Amino acid sequence: MANHYSAFPGMDDILPGESEKWQWLEEKARILFASYGFREIRTPLLEPTELFTRSIGETTDIVHKEMYTFKDRGERSMTLRPEMTASVARAVIEHGMLKTSKSLALYYTGPMFRAERPQAGRKRQFHQIGAELINVVREGEPYYADWAIIRLLADFLDYLKVKNVKFRLNDLTLINGAQAEVVRKKLRDYFEGHKTRLDPDSVYRLDKNVLRIFDSKIPETRAIIREVPWDSIAPYPAEFSKLVQTLKESFGESVSFEVDRTLVRGLDYYTGVVFEVASGSLGAQDALAGGGRYDRLYEELGSSATPCTGFSIGMERLLMVLEKNVPSLAQQMKWIYVAGLSAYPDLKNYFRGQKAALSLQEAGLRVFVAEPSVNLGDHLKRAAKMGASFAVISGDDELRQNSWTIKDLNTREQFSAAGGQLLSELMKRTKELQPL
Ligand code: HAM
Repeated sequence: MANHYSAFPGMDDILPGESEKWQWLEEKARILFASYGFREIRTPLLEPTELFTRSIGETTDIVHKEMYTFKDRGERSMTLRPEMTASVARAVIEHGMLKTSKSLALYYTGPMFRAERPQAGRKRQFHQIGAELINVVREGEPYYADWAIIRLLADFLDYLKVKNVKFRLNDLTLINGAQAEVVRKKLRDYFEGHKTRLDPDSVYRLDKNVLRIFDSKIPETRAIIREVPWDSIAPYPAEFSKLVQTLKESFGESVSFEVDRTLVRGLDYYTGVVFEVASGSLGAQDALAGGGRYDRLYEELGSSATPCTGFSIGMERLLMVLEKNVPSLAQQMKWIYVAGLSAYPDLKNYFRGQKAALSLQEAGLRVFVAEPSVNLGDHLKRAAKMGASFAVISGDDELRQNSWTIKDLNTREQFSAAGGQLLSELMKRTKELQPL
């Protein structure tokens, strides 16, 4: 009897047809982030568990309930990364990257793992595109990096033509700064006064870490959260209001920015401005991206004080939002189909074509090297089926004359190019051969 294996629920295969859309999105991220001076960092999928418990926090949902943690063969506790900000910090410190540059602008794409209940837009293995600004400090402009990171995120979404983008913002500075103990005590006192109506998780968090009460999704607890008398507990710093104003002015009507005092985000490392992006086109899981400032993480991990801010975007959710706007493979790239008319084992023409194809590829064109066959009709059918723009053909005549036959598959026009002129002949007609 045949065995049937399936992927673990919430961990999806990405098949041809879909994978091109992922490549398209990754390519877009690379182009935009590079043009803003960000460089890519890649870190291992597996890290010592303590890295995440230290940085994300013991009482968060992620650490408490969602990490894939196990003992390796050396009895060490290891965890599949639930996010990458902590790994990036670990790598920057480990490699002394701030010794050679005063500040860093890094980005990443890759899989993350959280043991959540799978549903549309919520996976156990999901993918993020993220960016981190590390030690970007400007004299007299304490919120500059916050503006810069939010601008990058908004510009990236605009570049992808994501419509209906809504930012929610909050400032956790007072809750974490010099006044932290006083502010947290006031918050505890407030929730203490409503203890009988809080859900059991929140009662537990009241003593352990009062900010985590804000993560509760229980309606009665949410009602209490909404009523927190913020003005008497921690009024907003004037700089924050200025930031929100500047953002509104930078983006006009196309993006909305709303202040939300209940937004604390589910990770302990945040210390200042935090934000989340929702999209009207997503269902229950509407957070497309999230991020914020984390000025104490590097100290927490044994380095010196390093102001940082960053964000991550959920790629599954972003692709859901983009849906029809992601071009299919055929639309994305115009191909050149190169066929040497050969029959095995006489492969002279095949090799001539293959060599030419690789040099076209080096010049930046997308080429497809056809399998050896002498049947010209079959080659042209296949080229048309894959959406190629041109077929380049070398048969015995072309070989003898050191020339190429080029067929424009859209107009059916046919012309020939001398041996050394193949690239320039194609380039004359290549406006449509470039990637979108
Ligand atoms: P996060 O809010 O936990 O932040 O995740 C960012 C985004 O990842 C979410 O807005 C969502 O789109 C996506 N995401 C999270 N969990 C899942 C899931 N189970 N399935 C599908 N998508 C998901 C962070 O991870 C921080 N590292 C962001 C950051 C960077 N803060 C500072 N720098």
